[in-house]
Amino acid sequence: MNKATHSAYADTAEEAIALQDKQGDAMTSDEATGIAMQNTLLTPRFYTTDFAEMDALDVTSVRYDWDKLIAEMKSDPNKGHFKKTDKWQADWEGMDPALRAEFIDFLISSCTAEFSGCVLYKEMKRRGSNTDITTLFQLMARDEARHAGFINDALREAGIRVNLGFLTQQKKYTYFRPKFIYYATYLSEKIGYARYITIFRHLEAHPDKVFHPIFQWFREWCNDEFRHGEAFALLLKTEPKLTESRVNKMWIKFFLTAVYSTMWVRDHQRPVFHDALGVDVTWYGQEVFRKTSEGTRQIFPFVLDIDHPRWRPNLDRMELASRQVAAGKARGGIAGTMARLGGMAKAAFAFVSLYTIPAIPNVVPMSTMMEPTY
Ligand SMILES: [Fe+2]
Ligand SMILES: [Fe+2]
Repeated sequence: MNKATHSAYADTAEEAIALQDKQGDAMTSDEATGIAMQNTLLTPRFYTTDFAEMDALDVTSVRYDWDKLIAEMKSDPNKGHFKKTDKWQADWEGMDPALRAEFIDFLISSCTAEFSGCVLYKEMKRRGSNTDITTLFQLMARDEARHAGFINDALREAGIRVNLGFLTQQKKYTYFRPKFIYYATYLSEKIGYARYITIFRHLEAHPDKVFHPIFQWFREWCNDEFRHGEAFALLLKTEPKLTESRVNKMWIKFFLTAVYSTMWVRDHQRPVFHDALGVDVTWYGQEVFRKTSEGTRQIFPFVLDIDHPRWRPNLDRMELASRQVAAGKARGGIAGTMARLGGMAKAAFAFVSLYTIPAIPNVVPMSTMMEPTY
């Protein structure tokens, strides 16, 4: 068997990570890895779970769709895609410093998020014995390792990289019980798809705004995320109570609200980046929510009402509150702590206000399978 020489051709996550970390030997960046190591409410986390419980999932009830999806993933349509080509012309020197800083922050946070999926999926594959489950998770880990590797390729040109091997060993892992993993991961795959495709379509219409080549890789990229989302939808379908019981519906609403509002706050912290893309960040947020909500109609019994009069004002309140928390933290001392606590209370209040907006009921279709539509 030919050994891959770049993470884009790697057949497993382990191989991709090793290839990436080998490339970076001459250059390390403590700062980038340091940012990736952070654990705050707004930064991507690493997760661990009860792998035995996940391994016990039985996909018999969705077998037909499952086999089709796995076959598609095995056929590996994106093998070799996540690698620079002649199309790649990055101009880091000519980039405005403020844009450069925000863009690097965006890349590091995206790399960590991609890699967070990779470590979780890789671990599930390693611990499991259910062939259906381990096959899926090995394929998803492969994809996420390639995604993270490719972002690292882009960062390396700016003289930085995230040390993936180091992160795997040293970053703190947060425990989530399996059902929370399903909701959070399903949503992050769906929202990932919506984010990548929204930027790609926008830049397709405004080619003069492509300030870095990585955006031109986003269409195939989002197809990977789309398949991952489909896989989690099928897993959720195997256990109807996960989406039908009263308590679980409350959890789903909680995760939807948390994931949407976190994205909103995080994106509003990068005004220069969105300006450079010619994207109005408020429009972008709502557009991504709309696409994500459409997507989640395949399995969730309701969608959030993102046009409700309380929706936008409270997202803005969350954002202001998060700025207050950050300023308080930076200031330190008693005044800083007071400001931080005040900000946290405001954020909690805004969250409750968002959470209590009545949801829009949705009739879940018999089959979850969808085609990418955007
Ligand atoms: Fe990914
Ligand atoms: Fe993914």
